[in-house]
Amino acid sequence: MKNTVILISGSGSNMQALVRAAEQRRWAQRLGARVAAVVSNKADAPGLAFARGHGLATAVVDHKAYASREAFDAALMAEIDRHDPHGHPALVVLAGFMRILTPGFVAHYEGRMVNIHPSLLPAFTGLNTHQRALDEGCRFAGATVHRVTPELDHGQILDQAVVPILPGDTAQTLAARVLTQEHLIYPRVVERLLACGV
Ligand code: GRF
Repeated sequence: MKNTVILISGSGSNMQALVRAAEQRRWAQRLGARVAAVVSNKADAPGLAFARGHGLATAVVDHKAYASREAFDAALMAEIDRHDPHGHPALVVLAGFMRILTPGFVAHYEGRMVNIHPSLLPAFTGLNTHQRALDEGCRFAGATVHRVTPELDHGQILDQAVVPILPGDTAQTLAARVLTQEHLIYPRVVERLLACGV
């Protein structure tokens, strides 16, 4: 079984889209793949309840309990790898996981870790992407699924979705429009990777 571990920090709407896709598109039967666990760095992440409700293993690795980024990443790595019998999950999916990862962590999952970022990369890496796109007068915004490399919000682009920026848009209205598209492209990319080899 190809085990996928999803990392979240918050509402986890992308994680929910992935879990629903796994169920509805029968990843287990068609691809021999499953979401093995949902791991959060925040105990109160609302997405955890959804995951539990869908019978998934969940875990919390609280970054505040660790003295350094390296110590946190080592604990997180141990938790992720625990969810595969060989200690080597096929795919690690970052879905609104709001921690910067150490180069050691990224190297450990080289070629098998993906992220979704709410901008049309390479534009607007980092935070506040929607407000920055509005401030720049962009006519289009979107989301990007990419492989994770040590450099934040870089790495091979696997798919993108584009949405128009409309008159009167705020960061919130734009974020909502982009998020709808994220929920479509992320499951599609993950399914493709699991089907064709990560
Ligand atoms: C999404 O906009 C995603 O692109 C970004 O963080 C947000 C997470 O939202 N990385 P959710 O937790 O999946 O609802």
